[in-house]
This record gives sequence, structure tokens and C-alpha cells, in this order.
Amino acid sequence: MRYIIQTIGCQMNICQSDEISKELNSKGLIKVLDRESADIIILNTCSVRAQAEQKAFSFLGRVCDLKQKNEAVKIIVIGCMAQRMKSKIKKRFKQVDLIIGTDRETPEIVNQILQLININNEVESPVEFLDLNTNNEVSKFVTITKGCSNYCSYCVVPFVRGKERARDFDEIIEECRNFSKQGAREVILLGQNVNSYNFNGFNFVDLLKEVSKISSIKRISFMTNHPKDLTLDLIQTIASFDKISKHVHLPLQSGSDEILKKMNRNYTLAHYKNLISLLRQNIKNISITTDVIVGFPSETDEDFLKTLETIKEIAFDGLYVFKYSPRPNTLAATFIDDVSQEKKKERLAIILKESNDISQKIVAGMVNTKQTVLITAFNGRSLEGQTETGRKVFMEGGRENIGKLCSVFITSAKINSLFGEICNEI
Ligand code: 5AD
Ligand code: SF4
Repeated sequence: MRYIIQTIGCQMNICQSDEISKELNSKGLIKVLDRESADIIILNTCSVRAQAEQKAFSFLGRVCDLKQKNEAVKIIVIGCMAQRMKSKIKKRFKQVDLIIGTDRETPEIVNQILQLININNEVESPVEFLDLNTNNEVSKFVTITKGCSNYCSYCVVPFVRGKERARDFDEIIEECRNFSKQGAREVILLGQNVNSYNFNGFNFVDLLKEVSKISSIKRISFMTNHPKDLTLDLIQTIASFDKISKHVHLPLQSGSDEILKKMNRNYTLAHYKNLISLLRQNIKNISITTDVIVGFPSETDEDFLKTLETIKEIAFDGLYVFKYSPRPNTLAATFIDDVSQEKKKERLAIILKESNDISQKIVAGMVNTKQTVLITAFNGRSLEGQTETGRKVFMEGGRENIGKLCSVFITSAKINSLFGEICNEI
């Protein structure tokens, strides 16, 4: 049986889709990339913005058409939208076979899928091969917290993923160890706010220190951070462990204190800027990326200019910008969405242009430097890897380099990718 798994949304979803794929593969199912040849179509959804939900609806529309031609096809919807609007999906897309929300854990989701296609879940897994030659064997996602208790006023996550739950400390370490035995060289620790991880008194710094003891893990990355919970202790830990990635994604959301307050972000711009100074003072070559929302209710031209000024001043290594989109159940959905679409679009374009200009300069400055790169994949033509600061690098060379941490001389750069030559393994 062939299946396709289409993922919309954040790293959490990518991670979960990976886990599901792994299970389905172990039951002998074959993953394909085109939906026309699939017997099972799984859609992993996101509710963070209306656009993500529209994307899922149009995908569902297309696959339901396919099912009209071939009734045997099974359609399964999981993720945040499945949680948030189960009955609506059922009503609108009668051909959908299974809708499972985020209140179910991955093994249960897999079991339900297997039941649907009449595969006995007790079948033994085939032997797992140690295969370093695939894209996803070198870098592995490890979930450390689920849900979020921050209730930023615009955000649907606490409603669709529930309150924050920290995963068992030892279980996380065990998973990292297992991945390393299977050939992983990087673990990417995931949570909506990794900084607030706390399991029986063990915090995120304790976790990073413990993971760094696994000798074959060469890089530890993590996301996402929250400015209200990022501590000096964490900054100093990132600085003092070579293995810990020198990339911090620290969502700013707005440069206006008034808007930050209405967003319920629990920090001020001054606090945010202080964190940036501490990160830059303590960590050589730190890369800082961020998220920004434009057009939040009541955002004036003046508020927007404060965001723009902050972006210019901080000169982020990367930036994601979103037009505010009211989400059901959130506090902000009760505010008047008074910034016009036109204005939102205009503000988005201004921020994008500014951040692209900054990124151009940053990547141009990396040409003729040596970067530490973890080589993660071979795409058929060249090797792919990531710098310590999370930038993508393409290099010439053979598959035998996959999994190696190398010093790479950067020869040229585009805004989203660098090109380089491998000097030596580190
Ligand atoms: N509207 C626009 N952007 C949003 N984000 C989260 N919720 C919304 C919303 N309702 C953005 C934030 C967050 C990123 C993952 O998505 O910037 O950091
Ligand atoms: Fe949403 Fe805020 Fe939690 Fe991030 S920290 S998931 S923006 S509520």
C-alpha cells in the first residue's frame, strides 16, 4: 500500500509526520510523493493562521475529487485543524475517513490508521537499517514539551494543543541516545517554548547539558524560545558548549510596547533588546532570527514604525513576517480587526524588503570565511548541510561525507543558501 503524508505548519507537525511515516514504513507501507498514486492520503494540518487552514481545505477538496474516481482511497486528517473543527471537516468533506485531533498521541494515531486499512498492528517491525545516506537520518527532531500555556492573545496553539506538558527528562535523553545509535548526529529539541521546560525540577539548561554528554551527537539545536523565559544561564550555556547550535529563534512579534502588552507577550521592547545584547556579548557569531506580526488590532503607523526601527537596529539574521489573522477562541479575536488588508499587505512588504536587504548583507559577509557545517544530505547533485548558525550550505562531494562535521570555505552566497568547499573534517 502506498501513502502520502502532506504536512502544513510548524516543526512539531513535521516531527509528528516523520514519526508516523517511520511507523507506517515499518509496517511495509510505501511512502510516495504524488497523491494520484497513493492509496492513503494523510493531511497534517495547522491552525495558526487562516491561510494555513485555507491551504488544507483546498488540498482536501482536491483529494476528495480523487476519491470520487477511486473509492478505495482513504483520506485521513490529523493536527490542529482536526482538533479545532472536526465536525466542520466531516460535514464539508464527507469522503474523509478519519479525523484525529491533537488530543491523541502518535501511537494511537498510527493504530487508528492501521485499523482503517485492516493492517494488524502486531506485525513485527522489519530490521531497521543503519542508513546515513538519507536526508532525515542525520538530524532528528525530539519533542521536549507539548502544548503551550502562554496564551499570547492572537494565538490558537493553547486551544488546539492544550497546556504545556514537559516530557520526562530521562525519556528525552533515551530518545536522543537511540537516535545517535541509529546514526543521527544532530538532535533538534522542539517545543512551543523550550525555555520553560521543567520536569521534576530539571530545566532546559540541565537538559542541554545532559544531551551534550552523548558523544556521537555533534550538534544540538532547539526551538522555539520565548523572550520572557530566556535566561542568562541559558545564554552562557549556549556559549560554553561547542555542540550547542549558535542559532536562537527569538520571536519579537512587535516593536511597540503597547502592542506587546495587548498581545500578552509579557516583556517589553527594552527587555527584548537587552536579551539581544546579552546574546551578542556572550556568544561569538550568534545568529538570531525572529517572527513579526503586522496589522495586529489597533496597530498604528507609529507602532508599526517602532517595529520597523527595531528590525533595522537589531539586523536579524532571518525574519518571518505574518499578517495578523484573527483566530477563534483567542482573546484578540474579541478585539476589532481594524487594520485594513491593504495596510497589512503594505506593512508586510516593507518589513520583507528591509529584512531581505539585511540578510543579503549578512550572507555576503560570510563569503571567503570558514564555517563549521554539519553535512546532512546528498540531493543527487550536491551535498547539503547547515552552518552552526543554521544557514543552508551546498557543497561538492560524495555521500560518504554525510553525517560529518566539516570546516567549509564559503565561496559564494545567495539570500537563502551558501555555496562552499569542504576543507577538512572537524
Ligand atoms: N496571526 C498572524 N500570525 C500569527 N502567528 C501566530 N498566530 C498568528 C495569528 N493569529 C505567528 C507568530 C508566531 C508564528 C509561529 O506565527 O509570529 O511566532
Ligand atoms: Fe502561541 Fe505564544 Fe504559545 Fe508561541 S508562546 S505557541 S505564540 S501562545
